[in-house]
Amino acid sequence: MQKYYTFPSLNIRTLWKRCKEKNSILDEENFFLYASGRAALFYGISCLPLEKGQKVLFPSYHCGVEVEAIIRAGFTVDFYPVTDKLEADIHWLEEYIDNDCAAIVVIHFYGFPQPVDQIKKICTEKKLYLIEDCAHGLYSKDRNKWLGQFGDIAIYSIQKTVCLPNGGGLLVNANLPKPGKGRSFIDSVLVKGLIRSVLEYEVFHKSKAAKISKIILDRFRDRQEAEEEISKEISMEPEYYDVPCYDYRNDIFIFSKPFLRPRSFLEIIRLRRNNYQYLQENLAFNDTFSKVHEILPEGVCPLCLPVKVDGNDKWSRNLQRYGVYVFIFGRFSHPVMDQGLFHNVETLNQGILGLPVHQQLDSDDMVLIVRQINKAIARFSE
Ligand SMILES: Cc1ncc(COP(=O)(O)O)c(C=O)c1O
Repeated sequence: MQKYYTFPSLNIRTLWKRCKEKNSILDEENFFLYASGRAALFYGISCLPLEKGQKVLFPSYHCGVEVEAIIRAGFTVDFYPVTDKLEADIHWLEEYIDNDCAAIVVIHFYGFPQPVDQIKKICTEKKLYLIEDCAHGLYSKDRNKWLGQFGDIAIYSIQKTVCLPNGGGLLVNANLPKPGKGRSFIDSVLVKGLIRSVLEYEVFHKSKAAKISKIILDRFRDRQEAEEEISKEISMEPEYYDVPCYDYRNDIFIFSKPFLRPRSFLEIIRLRRNNYQYLQENLAFNDTFSKVHEILPEGVCPLCLPVKVDGNDKWSRNLQRYGVYVFIFGRFSHPVMDQGLFHNVETLNQGILGLPVHQQLDSDDMVLIVRQINKAIARFSE
């Protein structure tokens, strides 16, 4: 059975068909590369004129590594509520921000913009720095501005939109000192990840190299396959916060750089939007498998199509049976957050998953993905 993943794989051919267009984010003067989004945040917060120990506010719906980056950089954290529509709770921010808070992080979940104008107004009134977490939102716009251009600083997890062994970015908009440089790092996991991803691309695209790739990949696969086993119970492993190749202090892997621009970024936006619209229009949504967003706003470059389900681990397993591998964001809150303070956080953590819409899926793939997901919905909906 063909397998459809939420993230693209490495197309080695892009190395000799390099895209020369000017890129609105990567070519910004104050854009800096790191190993990951978390590393970008670690170095980014350190350029703000803050004292160590000051408080940074985070949304209660998060994946944990972004919170960990701020803690490791020497700051304390607190949390604000997120509504069921995945927006920062503006009323709460207007009413309840403490005076000792120095900065606020907004996460543009799944590439959809947060209400930045309102949040910026609050930041100005309360003298807070605004940090945009665009880990999901590379190449997404709000009206005529790219996400990441509203805050004082912004971070991206480039590897989520464009396939790379690792890669994160920091955009410094305010007049701030240059951020520190990450330490260079290379390990066998990175190299293996790169090779695996290249082989996966060949197998998926049934290119001439596919047969041989399949044989090599099957050898590589043993461990990975075991991890993806449908029946596997997913738990919070201690190493979740310590993945060496994405480490908070690391520079981007030297072999990631040539893959940063695999094709026109405008084309990436167009393809992701088309795939998103196709899924949104053709999936058999129902009460146990429903839309998060009714429309795809102009300018949004979606990371995936988020849907509400009655248990994302359960649905992840259901969909894997049909060859569709989903993205689950925020399965666990960071341990420093008291979950009891946020009434809907468990529902968000366990009730949303992301379906694939990435730029390497063509219209035939999308037809098959819809067919497979609809079969799963028909079989497993209660
Ligand atoms: C909202 C958000 N911020 C930051 C990060 C960190 O990005 P990276 O995995 O590139 O370190 C992630 C990763 O999943 C994320 O989802």
